[in-house]
Amino acid sequence: MGAAGCFFVSLLNYKTEKYVIAENRKIGILFRLYQLAVWVFVVKKGYQEREEALQTSVITKLKGVTLTNSSETGLQLWGAEDYVVPPNGDQVFFVVTNYIETPNQRLGFCAESFKVPSGRCQSDADCIEGETVIAGHGIKTGLCLNSTGTCEIQAWCPVESGQRPTEPLLSEAENFTIYIKNFIRFPKFEFSKSNVLETSNDSYLKSCTYDSQDDVYCPIFRLGDLVSWTGYDFQDMAAKGGSVGILIEWECDLDKDSSQCNPQYSFSRLDMNLNNSVTSGYNFRYARYYKDQNGETFRTLYKVYGIRFDIMINGQGAFACDMILLYMMNTSSFYRERKFEIINFK
Ligand SMILES: *[C@@H]1O[C@H](CO)[C@@H](O)[C@H](O)[C@H]1NC(C)=O
Repeated sequence: MGAAGCFFVSLLNYKTEKYVIAENRKIGILFRLYQLAVWVFVVKKGYQEREEALQTSVITKLKGVTLTNSSETGLQLWGAEDYVVPPNGDQVFFVVTNYIETPNQRLGFCAESFKVPSGRCQSDADCIEGETVIAGHGIKTGLCLNSTGTCEIQAWCPVESGQRPTEPLLSEAENFTIYIKNFIRFPKFEFSKSNVLETSNDSYLKSCTYDSQDDVYCPIFRLGDLVSWTGYDFQDMAAKGGSVGILIEWECDLDKDSSQCNPQYSFSRLDMNLNNSVTSGYNFRYARYYKDQNGETFRTLYKVYGIRFDIMINGQGAFACDMILLYMMNTSSFYRERKFEIINFK
């Protein structure tokens, strides 16, 4: 029988409704499960397969220069290579906005700072030779210095004694920009996207700035804007330092067009809880080492205050097609077998 014959026979078949009462607990349970599945399907959009294991990569780059003028070392030019720590374009980085500089430190003997409680003394007996000053700068030599009321120590001398400038030295950091490149991938669905507009126009990224309404795909932010979006004042934060979180969220319904899968930015200050002023702020120290003509080492110590940026990426993707095939095929063949039974009238 050819294809036409098959068609002819099926045309002559008579199809009627048949109800099978399944007195089988297993089939009964399966049927209820099926109903539940339909509910999850239609109401809860449960047909979509979800992926929460977002793969992501972030690359950052800062731009901007500023001049500082300190009484100790004079004019200094700060470029991104100086004020970004670490400089390698990481997801978490620190931007120097203020600092205390202690130039020309050499290894030697000097008075411990009076700010360090365990370095204070009344007599030599308080300065046991060889003991380190707890939370201090060096090792006690056994002498109590009357002029300062502190122990003499072996250390990088003189020890830091400057005060934090009340106005941030790098106040112009407000106009520095961060470029955040973020690539995401939902490996299960082989979907990937980035937060940067795909364009062949070279000048686009040189001239655009992020705008949550008009330019979501220009990920270039002014530092001053980032801080003001957290509800704080940039110059206040720049003086003492602080921590800002940048959250990029990708909630993607991949049944829709890829243009519907867009990054959502939000900004928050992370180092503040209930205006507790002791814990807010952010600073650390580092030193630059040099050698003089005689080959002897000296260094400049910096205590830097600044803003730490943490870029966090979050997201999930949902996609239906695979699941429809998978589940529909399984349940429908189960039902097809039971709903229709071919009866031969010979
Ligand atoms: C930032 O740039 C604008 C425009 O060039 C300028 O008016 C402003 O003074 C700058 N802000 C700081 C803190 O330097």
